[in-house]
Order: sequence, then structure tokens, then C-alpha cells
Amino acid sequence: MQTMRTLEKEIPSARESPFSSSSVSLPAMGPRYALRTYGCQMNVHDSEKVANLLHHAGFRPAEHEQDAEVLLINTCSIREKAENRLYSDLGALREWKAAGPGRVLGVGGCVAQQEGDSVLRRFRHLDFVFGTHNLRLVPAMVEAARSGQRQSRTEESRSLERFDLPERHAAFEGSRPGQSFLTVMEGCDMFCTFCIVPRTRGREISRPAAGILAEAQDLVGRGVVELKLLGQTVNAYGRHDLRRGKTAEAGTLAFGELLTRLAEIPEIRRLRYTSPHPLFFDEALVRAHAEIPEVCPHVHLPLQAGSDRTLERMHRRYTVAEYLGIVERLRAARPDIALTTDVIVGFPGETRAEFEETLAVVGEVAFVDAYSFKYSPRPETAAAAMDGALDPVEAQERLAELQALQHDLTLAANRARVGERTEVLVEGQSARGERQQRGRDPYHRVVNFSVPEPEEAPPTGSFVSVELVEATPHSLIGERPKDRPELKDPLRLVDGREPASSMA
Ligand code: SAH
Ligand code: SF4
Ligand code: F3S
Repeated sequence: MQTMRTLEKEIPSARESPFSSSSVSLPAMGPRYALRTYGCQMNVHDSEKVANLLHHAGFRPAEHEQDAEVLLINTCSIREKAENRLYSDLGALREWKAAGPGRVLGVGGCVAQQEGDSVLRRFRHLDFVFGTHNLRLVPAMVEAARSGQRQSRTEESRSLERFDLPERHAAFEGSRPGQSFLTVMEGCDMFCTFCIVPRTRGREISRPAAGILAEAQDLVGRGVVELKLLGQTVNAYGRHDLRRGKTAEAGTLAFGELLTRLAEIPEIRRLRYTSPHPLFFDEALVRAHAEIPEVCPHVHLPLQAGSDRTLERMHRRYTVAEYLGIVERLRAARPDIALTTDVIVGFPGETRAEFEETLAVVGEVAFVDAYSFKYSPRPETAAAAMDGALDPVEAQERLAELQALQHDLTLAANRARVGERTEVLVEGQSARGERQQRGRDPYHRVVNFSVPEPEEAPPTGSFVSVELVEATPHSLIGERPKDRPELKDPLRLVDGREPASSMA
């Protein structure tokens, strides 16, 4: 059983939370912008970076797109459907653009990087296109568009300068109080045969540790207590620099060391990271889960397939046995660890037997959750040229089968936790009702809990203790315990946490 470790840190109680609904009031003036974001968490964070740059340039967020003078779409290209969403959005936005003289429409993200000028040529009402390496150009491109200039800037850069972005503007609030993303590396050199990301995000590059640590300091100064480190293969962090002996020059550390350094910042309570690649899941990272209390007991570890032949054709560079080895070592280090994953079904040439191997591995690991996708051919990727495309009906059936299995696994994992007391970082009101709040526990599970009358809801960004009373396939349902240890003595919140019932 996992021994509970002591967090020698000051934990903000609900009352002391630096956040409240009236924390920042925006100036009334300044042109308004709106942002639509598709895709992964890197894209969500890129949108935050663009929003912050716009704040520094004097823009302010519009409440509704109809009130915005600038509308930007941050796109995803991971599957064909995601790419097509941009084209349907752009078609529908002709009216938006025509409704206000001087309105500016821009497109960024992975489709922008992939298609460049061609989107600009195809949609005459589009003002500009910005690539994934050119976020810092956005305010200038908006200005240029206001004087009638149309342009596309999608040049790739290998310069570290792209990490030098301004600090969070005082009027810019992150979307989740208390939490923040933090970019540690970008790009991908893995070239999995199904994946477009190496083409849309460019070559792998690690951000110097000094910049990461400085940004973390700035964030905790603004009340952030949970950091999620981002990178397409986040645990490959620093590998090229370390190999080339460039550590001192680039100020880059190994990933495990980076986690240690971030955990030393007193205000940081939780550290998460996404997405690690199994190939780089080394002993230091396994140990970090056992030894660094701030490193959360959750790993999202993409499996993609449970058949060695498919993994090889995907060019994933690990075998099923190697993947299961990581799972075993992680569980030995941290028995209560929650594992989630990504799986692709219907990869070209995937046989029924190979798909069943995937089902078997998913069942064996018993993931707490899984994102599963039907394979979608992407331009200029190696798999798009492979024979053996699956019949779409067959692919759909495999997806449904896998999702049914995962549904049962998730429900079982959630049920196993009923009766446990957990620590929730409050994210705000839940969709379940007025006196219902929602947040996430250390295992990254969504927890909905009720606030009994006449109590006030705990502020977003604060930690509360919740007793889990019910499990659904999608979330855990809890109640505030009667004894409320965190209000009397905040330190008891973590020290006094009941071990997970699934931990034995
Ligand atoms: N860097 C991460 C994945 C990022 S993309 C990793 O290495 O795992 C997020 C997920 O989208 C992938 O894990 C994969 O499951 C899925 N995906 C990527 N390309 C896809 C494609 N062409 N068709 C279907 N799913 C895809
Ligand atoms: Fe895509 Fe593979 Fe890179 Fe992940 S590791 S982003 S799946 S190429
Ligand atoms: Fe999509 Fe680009 Fe992310 S393709 S998944 S937004 S890296």
C-alpha cells in the first residue's frame, strides 16, 4: 500500500483562496476579440497565449462573438473531421464578417500550418492565417488586417525565441483559477505513421529550464497551485540538448529533474504532464511518481494499439510487453496510480485478431479512461499510403466494442472509489444543478459534489475535501464531509486523506 507522504507546504484553505468571481474587472474600453479553439490541450494553451498577447496589445475579450471585432479560429487537423470543421465554420462566418465593417477574421493552428496560403485563397473573407510557430505575430497581423492587408505567415522556426512570450497580463485570467498549462517542449520528431502532428508542429524543441521555472514563479504569484506541463512528447523533454551536451548552454534538464525543480516551488501543490510517450518513460519518471508528492497519481499514457504488428506499422517504437512493463513499474512505485490512454482502431491492415489483442491489453491494464478513435488518413503521412483500409462499418463496430469495454472499466474503477475521501480542486458550478460544484481530484477524475444549504460554495481554485458517495460512468459524485478538516486545519487535508480503496 502506498504510504502517505507529508506535504510540508502551506495549503490555501477555501477562505484564503486568492480567487473570487469578482477578482478582476476588465476595462470597458479596447477592441474586442473572440477565439474559437479546436483540438488538444496544446491548442487550448496556444489560444491562451494569443489571448494574452492581444491583452498586451490593448484588446479585451468579447462576451459573444457577435460583439467581437476580431474573431480567431485555432484549428486542429488530427483527423479529417476536425479539419473539415474549419471549412464549415468559415463558410458560416461569411455573414459574421459582412455584418460589421472592419471586422477581422483570422485562422491559426494545425490546419493553418498544414494548408497555409491555400485557405486564404479559398476563403476571400478571411483576413489572415497564422502558423503554430507564429503566435507572437498575431497582434501585428490583426492591425495589418484592419488596414486591409491579407497575409499568411506559416514559416517554421527552430529558434527558442518562440518561448519568449510576455507574462500573463493583469487583466488576463486563465480559464481555470488555480490551474495553468506550462509549455516545456514543442513539436514532434517521432513520425508515427498515422499522425500529422510532426507536420503541423514541426521539429521537437525543448524550452530552456530557466524560462520554464521563471514562468512557473510568475504563475504561482497569480495564485496558480496546479501546473500541467505540456509537450507533444513531453517526457522527451531535453533529450536532444542532453545528447548534444548542450545542457549548460540551453539551460535544459532531464524531465525528471525538471519535475523536481518545479516541485521545489513552495506554492505548487499539483504537477501533471501530457502527453508522455512510452519510449521515453524512464526510471527517473517512474521514481518521480513515488518520491515527489506534488506529482499527481495519474498518467495519460497513449497505447494506440495492443498488437505488436500494428504498433510496428504505426512506428510507435515500443512493444506491448514494453508498454506493460511501464505499467507494472508505475504500479509498483505508486499502487493507486490512475492510468488513461489513447487508442486507434481500424489502422490499415488491422485484422480482427489484432483488434482483439488491443481489447485484451485494454482489459488487462484496466485503464480508468480511454480516448478511442477510428483511424483517419491524413495527408502526406506514411499510413495514408498503406494498403488494407478497413471497411468503415467494421471500423465503427470495433470502436463501439472498445468503447463498451472501456465504459465498463471506467464504471468499475469509479465504483471502487465510493466511500473514499478525496481532495478536489474546485473548478466551479457543475452542470448537474445550482448547488452542485465540480472539480478534479489528484487522479484527474471529475468529482461533482453538493453544497448543503445555507453554506456558500467554495471558491474556484480552492481545495476541498469530498467524500465519494456514488459513481457514474463519467464522474464521481461526492458530499462535503461533516467534519471539514480543511477548514480547521488545512494541512490535514492531504495528510488526512483516506487511501484509495483500490490501492491495496
Ligand atoms: N503525442 C501524443 C498524441 C497526440 S494526438 C502521443 O504520442 O500519443 C492525440 C491522439 O489522436 C493520438 O494519441 C491518437 O490516438 C489520435 N490520432 C492521431 N492521429 C490520428 C489519426 N490519423 N486517426 C485517428 N486518430 C489519430
Ligand atoms: Fe503524433 Fe506520434 Fe508525435 Fe504523438 S508521438 S504527436 S502520435 S507523431
Ligand atoms: Fe490537433 Fe494539432 Fe493538437 S492536430 S490534436 S491541435 S497538435
